[in-house]
This record gives sequence, C-alpha cells and structure tokens, in this order.
Amino acid sequence: MTTVTLALIILAAILAQVAVVMLSGLYRRKRQCRDLDEAIQGAENISKPSTPTGSAAESFTDNPHRDGFKEFVVQRREIEDGNNSICSFYLVPADGKPLASFRPGQFLTFKLQIEDPRNRELKSVVRCYSLSDAPRPDYYRVSIKRIPAPVDQPDVPAGLSSSFFHDHVQQGSRLLVKAPSGHFHLMDDEPLPIVLIGGGIGITPMLSMLNTVLESGIKREIWLYYGVCNGNEHIMKTHLQTLARTHDNFHLHVCYSAPNDNDVAGIDYQHNGQVAIPLLRNTIKLMRYQFYICGPRAMMESLVPGLEDWGVDSRDIYYESFGPASLIKHEKVAQTATATQPITVTFSRSGKSIPWDVSADSLLAFAEANDIDVASGCRAGSCGACQTPVKSGELDYNQEPDADIVPGYCLLCISTPKSDLTLDA
Ligand SMILES: Cc1cc2nc3c(=O)[nH]c(=O)nc-3n(C[C@H](O)[C@H](O)[C@H](O)COP(=O)(O)OP(=O)(O)OC[C@H]3O[C@@H](n4cnc5c(N)ncnc54)[C@H](O)[C@@H]3O)c2cc1C
Ligand code: FES
Repeated sequence: MTTVTLALIILAAILAQVAVVMLSGLYRRKRQCRDLDEAIQGAENISKPSTPTGSAAESFTDNPHRDGFKEFVVQRREIEDGNNSICSFYLVPADGKPLASFRPGQFLTFKLQIEDPRNRELKSVVRCYSLSDAPRPDYYRVSIKRIPAPVDQPDVPAGLSSSFFHDHVQQGSRLLVKAPSGHFHLMDDEPLPIVLIGGGIGITPMLSMLNTVLESGIKREIWLYYGVCNGNEHIMKTHLQTLARTHDNFHLHVCYSAPNDNDVAGIDYQHNGQVAIPLLRNTIKLMRYQFYICGPRAMMESLVPGLEDWGVDSRDIYYESFGPASLIKHEKVAQTATATQPITVTFSRSGKSIPWDVSADSLLAFAEANDIDVASGCRAGSCGACQTPVKSGELDYNQEPDADIVPGYCLLCISTPKSDLTLDA
C-alpha cells in the first residue's frame, strides 16, 4: 500500500467519524424537540376535557350573568410555611365538569364578596392568583400569602382578599373563578435551558413550571433561584429538595437574606443573601437560557436590567409583577413629566374634565384620586376589571397588558394618557 493510499484511507475514516458525530447530534436535537412537544402536549391534554361536550374553556362562559366566572369548591387547604402566612387552596369545579387547560405560569382570577372593614358593607373584590402546580386532571392549586397592613401604616385594613382567603375560605367554601389566563407562561417553541427566579410569593408560577418540566421526563436543564428571608418563609422545602435529589437536570439555589439561628447553610439554603446578578454569574455559564422572573419590585428592578447588562437578550427574559407594574413605569412617568403640552382627561359619565397629573402612576390612580367611580382588581393589567371605553384620544401602556382588551377599551391600571383623552367613566 502506498503512502498516498494510506493517507486517503485515514482521511476517509476521519470524515466518516465526523459525519457520524454530526448525524447523532442532529438526531439528539430532533429528539429533544419531539420530547418537549410531547411533554407540553401531555401537560395540556392532562387538563383538557375528555368528554365531547364542548371545551372546558367554554364551560366558563356558559352562564353569561357571571362574566365568565364559574363556581369552584375548595377541596382542601394547606399551610405551607413556618410563619402560617402562606396557604394553598385546592379547587375543583362545582359542576364536576373537566377543568380548562392552562400553561404553567398562568393565573386564575377570583371574584369575591368581602365585607369592607371600613363600613361593614359587602363589596366585590377581584384578585388574581397564579396556579402553583403543574396542570392536573382533578384540581387547580393556588398558594396565597396573607398581606398585613404596611408596617408604617398599621391602622389601614390588612389585605382584603388574602385575609379573606386565610380567615374565611375553608374546605367546602364556594368561590367564583375565571378560566386560567396570562401571557407569562413557559415557552415551548425552543427547548432552551430554563432559569426560574422567584422572590417570596413570586415562587408560585415557578412551581408550576418546574413541576411540569420535571414530571414530563424531558431532560431540559432547569435552575431555580428562590429568594426568601429565612426558613420560616421557605415554602415546599421538602418537595423542592426531593426534586433536586431525584433529577440531575434540576439545580436548586435557595437564598436566605436573613437566616434564623436554626437555619443550616448547605442544608436548608445554599446562599446567604439575595438573588442577584453576581450569584447568577457565578453559578451558570453565559449561554442562551430562558429566564423567568417573578418577585418583589426591588428584585425585578435590579434583575431584569442586570441580565440585559450581562448580555442576555431581552427576548429571553420573561417576567411578571404581582402588584402595580414598576419596571417600565419610571421611564413612562419621566417621559410624561417632560411633555410640554398639558393633557386633559375627561370622564364623560362623571362630567369631569381634569388636567392630567404627571406624577400619577396610572389613569386608575388618577381617577381614584379625583373621586371618579371606576372598577379595579389586580391593578397590574391582568384581570381586566378596570377595562373602560375610550371615546377619543390616545394613551400609552406602561407594560404589556395581560388581560385581553376589547377593541375601543383600555386598561386604566397600566396606562397613562398620551394626548387629551375622553373616557366613558
Ligand atoms: C398575575 C398575578 C398573580 C398573582 N399571584 C399571586 C400568588 O400566587 N399568590 C399570592 O399570594 N399573591 C398573588 N398575587 C397578588 C394578589 O393578586 C393580591 O394582590 C394580593 O393577595 C394582595 O391582595 P389583598 O386584597 O390581600 O390586598 P389589598 O387589599 O389589595 O391591599 C394591599 C396592601 O395595601 C394596604 N392598604 C389597604 N388600604 C390601604 C390604604 N388606605 N392606604 C395604604 N395602604 C392600604 C393593605 O394593608 C395591604 O398591605 C398575584 C397578582 C397578580 C397580578
Ligand atoms: S385592575 Fe386588573 S387589569 Fe386593571
């Protein structure tokens, strides 16, 4: 055999090896995509109606007098933390029909009748709560934190809805609930590794995403950064630790900002401090992930821009705020404040035309400050309760609305006027 022939044989062998590696890589990638599709499909099917009686989502609207709300019964309730301040409620449909499907990360909207502590009159209160478990065929779960009065205002009433849930909602209670909704949910178009970041009660949508991905059996890498004060606030500790022990693709990082004396580093929690960019940089390699964030305002304000500064594409960052949106608001307020033209907002039914106050956070806050009677619920663009017809003029949204808006209407809680505006309120 000549040297040339030998060289050709070696070259052919190398090329064949490269081809095999490439083909098996392609196959693995295709399989990953197929597994993910199957997993998401499975999660959806699990909660889709099994009877041919029409979709479960339709069953939410079959009583037009209840604005899409349907009656649910509380099957059980369970305290989740050492402070007794977070309680999970398991809900089943009162009519026994199948549950509407949902995507992990979405929320339920509740309409409650609660006695107003100030005048003892019953009032309708609308609030949203994230689904805190993977889609199941038999129940929805929400986990609700009791919200006390602010420390600097101990005389104002404690949180209406959360106190009502903790103090009055028991096994067998009936509640009006709207079908799951929300744009903040697990994205399944690309099987990228996932980083979930939950601060305090912001862990709830992350639990739903985490449980769904791990139960599906797909090997998608998933990190959870969970920030709380200490062990008394740490919910689902055993569940999370068991998942971390039994799934190689799940990486749990619990951060205590003020650990108690009996909280053990390395066992109860992994990091002393808050979830912050340096921690992320030290624990994950910079590559493409999907980041999902939900937590208190300060955490969101530092993490979302911090990730972008680190080089994360903003399209890979998904976040949800449980309260009035704050992230983009500052820019909007600043923009409005520098506008040269004064803006007038007219509330036609109330017969009031009022100069826009540039320091107002939203049209909802502005209307309330001027004694205009407007409905509200979540104050975060999620529930749709503040939806109001716009007769003329333009407005800006401070964030992407989660509620679906009827054409010609606006969500007062997350918008500010761009020009003179007339609202049918
Ligand atoms: C999409 C979404 C998902 C959510 N998911 C969850 C979840 O999974 N779990 C969860 O626990 N929460 C969740 N929330 C938050 C939840 O919807 C409520 O906002 C929360 O429970 C507080 O509602 P509340 O009625 O108890 O408090 P509110 O009655 O709205 O009061 C809020 C605070 O204001 C104070 N207050 C009352 N009156 C005054 C006054 N006059 N002046 C000053 N302060 C006053 C209260 O004392 C309280 O501290 C979610 C919110 C959204 C938008
Ligand atoms: S109050 Fe819920 S969308 Fe505005």
